[in-house]
Amino acid sequence: MHAYRAALLSFADDASACYEQDGLLVVGPGGDGRKVIRAAGAYGALAGNYEGVPVTHLPGKILAPGFVDLHVHFPQTDVIGSPAEGLLPWLENYTFPHESRFADHAYALGVAQVFLDELLRNGVTSALAFCTSHPHSVDALMQASEARGLRMIAGKVLQDRHSPDGVRDQTQQSLVDTEALIRRWHGRGRLGYAITPRFAPSCSEAQLRGAGELAAQFADVWIQSHVAENRDEVRWVRELFPAARSYLSVYEDFGLLRERAVYAHCIHFDDTDRALMRDTGTAAAVSPTSNLFLGSGFFDYEGAMRVGFRFGLASDVGGGTSFSPFHTMLAAYYVGREGQTKPGVSLSPQHLWWQHTAGAAQALGLGGVIGNLRAGCEADFLVLDPKATPLLARKTAAAATLDELLFSLIVLGDDRTIEQVFVDGAALL
Ligand code: GUN
Ligand code: ZN
Repeated sequence: MHAYRAALLSFADDASACYEQDGLLVVGPGGDGRKVIRAAGAYGALAGNYEGVPVTHLPGKILAPGFVDLHVHFPQTDVIGSPAEGLLPWLENYTFPHESRFADHAYALGVAQVFLDELLRNGVTSALAFCTSHPHSVDALMQASEARGLRMIAGKVLQDRHSPDGVRDQTQQSLVDTEALIRRWHGRGRLGYAITPRFAPSCSEAQLRGAGELAAQFADVWIQSHVAENRDEVRWVRELFPAARSYLSVYEDFGLLRERAVYAHCIHFDDTDRALMRDTGTAAAVSPTSNLFLGSGFFDYEGAMRVGFRFGLASDVGGGTSFSPFHTMLAAYYVGREGQTKPGVSLSPQHLWWQHTAGAAQALGLGGVIGNLRAGCEADFLVLDPKATPLLARKTAAAATLDELLFSLIVLGDDRTIEQVFVDGAALL
């Protein structure tokens, strides 16, 4: 066992933050040979129970849960910052040509390493990730994640139509490949598989049906896709699936809405869609930097909270502009303020942080496993430096409340704020 003494940030069941100015985090072996949090709380209350356990004292630092990125594309690491009129030209002109390069296994492995370096530098210890349509792009990301002990959930993209040569797959083969990848990777160590139809326009009905059948057969694998991101895309789906009530209900019709299903964006929704999300246990991956960059629109926080479906935060790199959870939380704050419905909501810094940690974990069905620093959670945690830059040091020193402290970090923080990253109890950064 080993213990860390510093300020300690964690989350209660009601999504509020708990903060111990002088905290203790005790890490030790759990089941499966994994490292877990054995205890977390006030130093004064816990220290006596752990005499003899070596303690690393980190005065002035903050221990916080590793961030969880609920939607990110590893092969789009180099697509960040590619401007386009909107989603569909961005896919056609930048994303599909770039993803076609992942036919080369060595190239995919190289980008997987860069991608994981970026996640860790930014304090992201778990992600739900898209690969490309090439099955070995999944092998590349899974191998690289396994070597670092990361809890990574990922899948091969399904896209058998409206996609150019180089990324388009074949219906039957894509489903055979998906099943083989599930059997190879799902549940191996900390890895999980996600069935990954790219989005309804790029999948034939036969492919969506096959994806739904696999989702029924493998009930504990994840499902990830995109929905209701962009108005042109929504119009296109209406033409392609004229019988469907809405874009979201296309996925329902193929058995693709359930617990452990996570849909990126969920912007152009009505209340029937929101109730469908809630009633099926489906979660939204809110991707504010992507939505602002591609001009897609604003996630409706008021609607999501009123109807009550699960959501969490995501970078959506490379539509998204940053791997940094601080940048994503700040963009989410802007989106809440601007809103779809006036006057908008002023999201609290505690809630923003929860959306990228414990809330994102809940959206994955991994509440109490990752995204928090409570006894029993896996030992993925960060050491934050609230003095990482001169202005941040001034602001955090003057913070009189927890909300002021967290807002200073959200507004001024970046990768420099992430001093150390522990994954499965081991320092990776
Ligand atoms: N819709 C279908 N594919 C994509 C993608 O790669 N990124 C985003 N943001 N939306 C999509
Ligand atoms: Zn995406």
